[in-house]
Amino acid sequence: MRGPSLAVKGGILLAVVFAALKFVLPLFTAPLPMSLIWLYLFLATIGIVVYGTLSAESTEALLGPVFRFLSGEGIGGMAKSARLAVLALVPLLVGWQTYSGLVPSSQPPAENRTIHPAPPGEFVGLSNPVPNTPENVMQGRGFYSAFCSPCHGAKFNGNGAASDGFNPPPANFSDPGTIAMLQESYLFWRIKKGGVGLSVEGHPWKSAMPRWEVELSDDMIWKIIMAEYAGAGQKPRTWE
Ligand code: HEC
Repeated sequence: MRGPSLAVKGGILLAVVFAALKFVLPLFTAPLPMSLIWLYLFLATIGIVVYGTLSAESTEALLGPVFRFLSGEGIGGMAKSARLAVLALVPLLVGWQTYSGLVPSSQPPAENRTIHPAPPGEFVGLSNPVPNTPENVMQGRGFYSAFCSPCHGAKFNGNGAASDGFNPPPANFSDPGTIAMLQESYLFWRIKKGGVGLSVEGHPWKSAMPRWEVELSDDMIWKIIMAEYAGAGQKPRTWE
């Protein structure tokens, strides 16, 4: 046994160990986490190196091809290009790994909380006292553009200019999971009290939704609610 065979055998062994842990084992039991697979591969590598360096001859058989490949001495055309590709790819891969580890994700982490907790009793079952006329909706639309669209978006889709910075993101009113499944009285509560007014089941919930009772009259809020449903093409939920 001589030549590159020991190095190649070592490579094949690692590939077999990886395939067995990653693809064969899950057929019988729960899949292993990647970190554990890496640990086993690391141990297998140590085993191969210990075995391969038992004698000077086997050391050369194991490490010789690796050193020749890295130094580029006495290797042919195909191997030369492969060597260049490896030397270029490794720094790129390390750079990409570091970058993707550091770049902040825009995906909000899953949190175990109630998205629509029950409103306090005083807000249950209120109905909109403002008549649903085109003028009132227009006015509400104006208030919405001024106060709400920077976060909830001019198109009511949660895509306002300031929306990117918030987690949880501003609600997307055109999504059937938000205002379409809520009653007007619920919206009135959420708009009036904002993120700070959320009840305990709604936590942990670092909501940026402002508490609008500080700035807007009830009348304005009811008009905004009408405009929100009209603009998002949704209807409030009602209990017949
Ligand atoms: C600073 C950004 C910001 C502004 C401005 C803002 N909101 Fe929000 N809003 C949020 C965020 C973030 C959420 C999601 C977290 C939450 O539900 O509290 C939210 C949630 C809501 C919800 C709850 C939706 C649901 O499905 O439970 C309503 C209703 C709402 N906003 C209405 C308004 C109205 C009306 C205005 C304007 C008067 C407004 N918001 C202005 C950030 C904002």
